[in-house]
Amino acid sequence: MRQKIVAGNWKMNKVFHEAEDLVGAIANAIDDREPDCEVVICTPSVFLEMTGDYSEESQIRTGAQNVSEHESGAYTGEISAAMLDSMAIDYCIVGHSERRKYFGEKDEVLYEKAERLIENEIIPIFCIGEQLEDREAENHFKVVEAQLVNSVFKFNKDEFSNIVIAYEPVWAIGTGKTATPAQAQEMHAFIRDLIAKKYDNETAEETSILYGGSCNAENAKELFSQKDVDGGLIGGASLKANDFTKIIYSF
Ligand code: PGA
Repeated sequence: MRQKIVAGNWKMNKVFHEAEDLVGAIANAIDDREPDCEVVICTPSVFLEMTGDYSEESQIRTGAQNVSEHESGAYTGEISAAMLDSMAIDYCIVGHSERRKYFGEKDEVLYEKAERLIENEIIPIFCIGEQLEDREAENHFKVVEAQLVNSVFKFNKDEFSNIVIAYEPVWAIGTGKTATPAQAQEMHAFIRDLIAKKYDNETAEETSILYGGSCNAENAKELFSQKDVDGGLIGGASLKANDFTKIIYSF
């Protein structure tokens, strides 16, 4: 179902007591004043139990940052979708550009990861986005379309309706260089149109498409005011309670 979402992606940051303080501060802030969006915190896996406890008593929803493409078995160090499901985890990021770049994750494996999540009723936040050279060569639409076609467009309509898409231009991630609201809107409308062509208008209208890449307390309002931008996937600015809270109230 299409809804407004602000999701924090902590990446590999914080130690336990810092993580607890940060989740606690965000939970307090949003429990005082009900936000107009779903608030998701995607923490490192070792903090998921703690964040999951907050999910039970506050409006925070918990997300993981990675999941195995395998169901279970001899995969040392991996975490399965069934394990996440057994711990009150509602979302999981898949296909983040850092996983694609540093861990060699390709469309096929990302599709399998999303499939495991859907089977376990966890919502994949599926990331797509072009590199700087793709945009400079004006190939950004083609690249994003190929990422969709080679992964999540393999799902049938029912399966796809469980997915949140995050458009994250790689040149904007952690660089302080945000896509302009017009650039974000243009790509989000393009993605929604592709979804309509692949499935139907209703599915396209019901899909949440988040923007990610140097989204912060200053620029969130303008980005979120764009017609096809349903919220954000927030990296750096999700590590400070005040900044993240401001983003949450940017709708
Ligand atoms: P950023 O990261 O907000 O620090 O640019 C976003 C992301 O990687 O999801």
